[in-house]
Amino acid sequence: MEYLERRRDQVEERLEAVLDSVEPDELADEVRHVALSGGKRVRPTVTVLVCEALGGEPADAVDFAVGIELVHNASLVIDDIIDESELRRGSPAAWEAFGHGPAIIASDGLLGEAFDLFSTDERAMQTVSDSMVELGEGEAMELVAEPSNEEEYMELARRKTGALFRAAAELGAIAADSDPYTVEAVGRYAERVGVAFQMRDDVLDATADAETLGKPAGTDAEMQRPSLVEVTDLTTEEANERARAQSDAALESLSTINAPDSQSMEYLRDLAEFVVVRER
Ligand code: IPE
Ligand code: IPE
Ligand code: MG
Repeated sequence: MEYLERRRDQVEERLEAVLDSVEPDELADEVRHVALSGGKRVRPTVTVLVCEALGGEPADAVDFAVGIELVHNASLVIDDIIDESELRRGSPAAWEAFGHGPAIIASDGLLGEAFDLFSTDERAMQTVSDSMVELGEGEAMELVAEPSNEEEYMELARRKTGALFRAAAELGAIAADSDPYTVEAVGRYAERVGVAFQMRDDVLDATADAETLGKPAGTDAEMQRPSLVEVTDLTTEEANERARAQSDAALESLSTINAPDSQSMEYLRDLAEFVVVRER
């Protein structure tokens, strides 16, 4: 089996086991609907690859990887309520499928399971808590402190998306028992990957269709959301160039890390390239 697939399967297996332990059955059905509907699993992949690149085993990072994916999924449930978005990963969004109340409970349930996985490690708890403060403030900023230029947009993207990517990478380093300098360096890499990821997401919202994306397209213009395309005069091509510049900066950060070259390191480089060319 292919290298990345093997690691994703490990994450998937553990994720399913965690979701299977949820009670009552109704909540289990809801969290399974949310978490097993075909996400790309980018963040947990970062966690596992970083751990391995820094000398750990994939198995060391699997619980943290699942945890960060659960936090991401919980945030999507809430984001879809805020954005009144009916489609997620090609399926009805949680609120559309179950109603607002149950969707909010499902999001809380996902967060609870996630924190249960981090609670064994104080550093993991700290990293994830920090990222969730940023994420919450980022989502709030998007609604109330509407960014109106590129600089403010970059801060928004860092908070609402970069922060969780940072946590994903830092968790991998923590699982590998790395020193604080290395934890910070992989965090810087991943934060930049996350910002590039969000910039590409904004381009795709303006250029792709819902069927390809598995979520509604054109919503940033429709809902007047402060996407990169909406707050600047950049063309979608220019916006994508900006995303590429972030991806290059991420690669630069990765190159400062003191670790031998490895297959996992190569995949981390590929990932920075992938996020700015992805079609979904
Ligand atoms: C969607 O994230 C939210 C953004 C930060 C743009 P992903 O594109 O990683 O969503 P899934 O997990 O693959 O569905
Ligand atoms: C991204 O928000 C979700 C979070 C960062 C919580 P967006 O609204 O920009 O992304 P999509 O298009 O719903 O995935
Ligand atoms: Mg949204």
